[in-house]
Amino acid sequence: MSAIDIPTPWRTAAEQILKQQWHRILVLGATDRGKSTYCAFLGQTLSAAGFRVAFVDADVGQKDVGPPATISLAYLDEALELSQAPLAALYFVGAVSPIGHLLPVVVGTKRMVELAQAPFVIIDTSGLVTGSGRVLKTFQIDSLRPQVIVALEKEQELGPIVRACRNYNVIRLRSSPQTKAKSIDIRRAAREQAFRTYFEGAREHRLRLRQLVVQRGFVSVRLAHHLLCGLADSQGEGLGLAIVRQVNFRRGTVSLLTPVARQAIRILQLGSLYLSSDGCELSSPFQGDKSPAK
Ligand SMILES: Nc1ncnc2c1ncn2[C@@H]1O[C@H](COP(=O)(O)OP(=O)(O)OP(=O)(O)O)[C@@H](O)[C@H]1O
Ligand SMILES: [Mg+2]
Repeated sequence: MSAIDIPTPWRTAAEQILKQQWHRILVLGATDRGKSTYCAFLGQTLSAAGFRVAFVDADVGQKDVGPPATISLAYLDEALELSQAPLAALYFVGAVSPIGHLLPVVVGTKRMVELAQAPFVIIDTSGLVTGSGRVLKTFQIDSLRPQVIVALEKEQELGPIVRACRNYNVIRLRSSPQTKAKSIDIRRAAREQAFRTYFEGAREHRLRLRQLVVQRGFVSVRLAHHLLCGLADSQGEGLGLAIVRQVNFRRGTVSLLTPVARQAIRILQLGSLYLSSDGCELSSPFQGDKSPAK
């Protein structure tokens, strides 16, 4: 972490969290405020003190751990970068923005926090903090009941959220002057690279629709070529992602491109995003496609 600037208040806050044993830590901030950097630093501080640290990545669009469009759980290790922490579990949200998907973000974050088996759980969040983002953060706080909220700000942009959770322990920190902003194009390219990496080595499986439990939409209306889907086992635990390659309603089959082994797949959750096989985000099922859905 030598290239990272750690302002004194960042260090003091991490020491306070350790001393007070504030086990559930929710990190808030607008985009590019250093949320992920602070989560990594805090994780290293707590790991170095000898504690197992869970990390819940609830920033569906700019993930550090696991594929986009999911909420993920990982365990941090002092020696590893955040992005190298192995994925332990995931919950499919179905989109790369929380807008229009507040419920799966709230439910998924809660599920991952409940699954975490560690004395400390650090929760990173999306940079959406105004409008529906403010609503989302308020309900995430209500459902998670963190022992401390770390608010990273450039100015006082989290004022409305912080005022509405004054009954919690809140630590307000300034972003480092070394923080760099990412453009929309860079963010999209990072997501597409993350999808590409996730689907590397994926295989195509043809499954019978009647053997699957389809959730989050009607097959006849929503199931289409290129749709990003979530896969879960019979207990509803997330297994991974799939891209629909072909739907054959006459035969009652769906072909899925996925790195997930077919044996465990029981639930198919329909998402709201279309992806090409190489991870590019498409605006419709038919974009750049000569063989539309059957
Ligand atoms: N303390 C710091 N020292 C050096 N660089 C930093 C620091 N904080 C943030 N940065 C840099 O600024 C950029 C944004 O930081 P980071 O990704 O942590 O922000 P974020 O709030 O998580 O952003 P996002 O909205 O994409 O989730 C990154 O390139 C990061 O390396
Ligand atoms: Mg981040």
